Amino acid sequence: MAVRRHIEQAWHASARGAGFLEVDGPPLESLDLFKAKSGDAIAGELYAFNDKGGREVALRAELTPTIGRLVATHGQSLKKPIKWYAVPQLFRYQRQQRGRLKEHLQFNVDVIGAAEVGADAEVVSVALDALRRLGLTSEHVYVRVNHRAAVDQKLAELDCADNEKVLRLIDKGALTAENAAGALGTAAVGELQAWLTEQTDGDAHLGEFFAACEDFGVREFVELDRHIVRGLDYYTGFVFEIFDRGLSERAIAGGGRYDNLVEKLGGPSLPALGFGMGDVVLGDLLKDLKLLPAAPARLDALVVPIGADMLGPARQVVRRLRDGGQRAEAPFAPIKVGKAFKLAEQAGATRVFLVGPDEWADGTVKVKDLREGGETVAYFAEL
Ligand code: HAM
Repeated sequence: MAVRRHIEQAWHASARGAGFLEVDGPPLESLDLFKAKSGDAIAGELYAFNDKGGREVALRAELTPTIGRLVATHGQSLKKPIKWYAVPQLFRYQRQQRGRLKEHLQFNVDVIGAAEVGADAEVVSVALDALRRLGLTSEHVYVRVNHRAAVDQKLAELDCADNEKVLRLIDKGALTAENAAGALGTAAVGELQAWLTEQTDGDAHLGEFFAACEDFGVREFVELDRHIVRGLDYYTGFVFEIFDRGLSERAIAGGGRYDNLVEKLGGPSLPALGFGMGDVVLGDLLKDLKLLPAAPARLDALVVPIGADMLGPARQVVRRLRDGGQRAEAPFAPIKVGKAFKLAEQAGATRVFLVGPDEWADGTVKVKDLREGGETVAYFAEL
């Protein structure tokens, strides 16, 4: 939980820093919401079952369909652009492996009602802000961006008979003549592979996007990569994924534009984009790079009663310290002073309060500073 809280705190801070409001939805949704809207990639990984009323339900595998439905239902009355973030617990029924678990926590950031390229750059920069807060730099992570329209255009040029199939193969890194049979001929597969690999930043949208990233100070993180097409069916244009430069892992985050989803869910036609960033791949990376903090301190102060008579006064000292915003505790039974110092150190406390009968009679306590090493006497009334 300490690791989870550390990561979550960076997520919350980066989203709030960019003016996003936190939202959430129900963990249990109707199966329909996912089946129709997310496509095969997620449908095959749903934790789905029939409830007692015979309704087909599923634990949420992602938040985007819920966000789409929320906006479809309430969008008319909300000021645009809508800037929402959430940290939902998600469930995917798949084989557990490094970087992929049956349950994970995901940072979701979405902007709805903005078609401008500036929104694309804002969303990417919020993802990067979170990573930077966790100590990651452009030497550790980078964003691969693409635009689906460019790939669709290339597929049209090549007379592709099944775009979805080819996009899925590109997404899985499994584009071969054999796998693409029926959609593309052997020569076309060769041409497509060459085109995907050659790096051009020719199209206008991405050019504008890169300039906006420069303004946000994150240009060095961002690269064009035509292989990024995303597996989920609802993406319509700009797409991106974040990877670690060690290339050892799966994506740390992924997202893009889904300009048709709100309308598909019965709402108005509204442009939208966002991303999801999981805690699993990210947690592994931070651990590998030794960027996770040491075990967090549990206490600021330990209050030690000298003798059973001082248990009550020690509790009173604890009360005052807690009211003052300090994390403090006293043992439930008297302990030896030597043991108390050991306990304090283990708990990460920086001060030990010794509550002895003589000092207490004077309305004072002894305070040992574990960092500086000194000892002072403090009035209880001034703690
Ligand atoms: P996704 O690519 O399926 O996109 O997931 C986004 C991120 O969630 C992944 O890059 C990964 O870090 C994490 N993740 C996904 N599945 C697992 C798993 N089984 N175990 C651990 N981590 C996992 C989406 O979910 C989209 N709904 C994101 C989005 C939001 N697009 C627009 N708005």
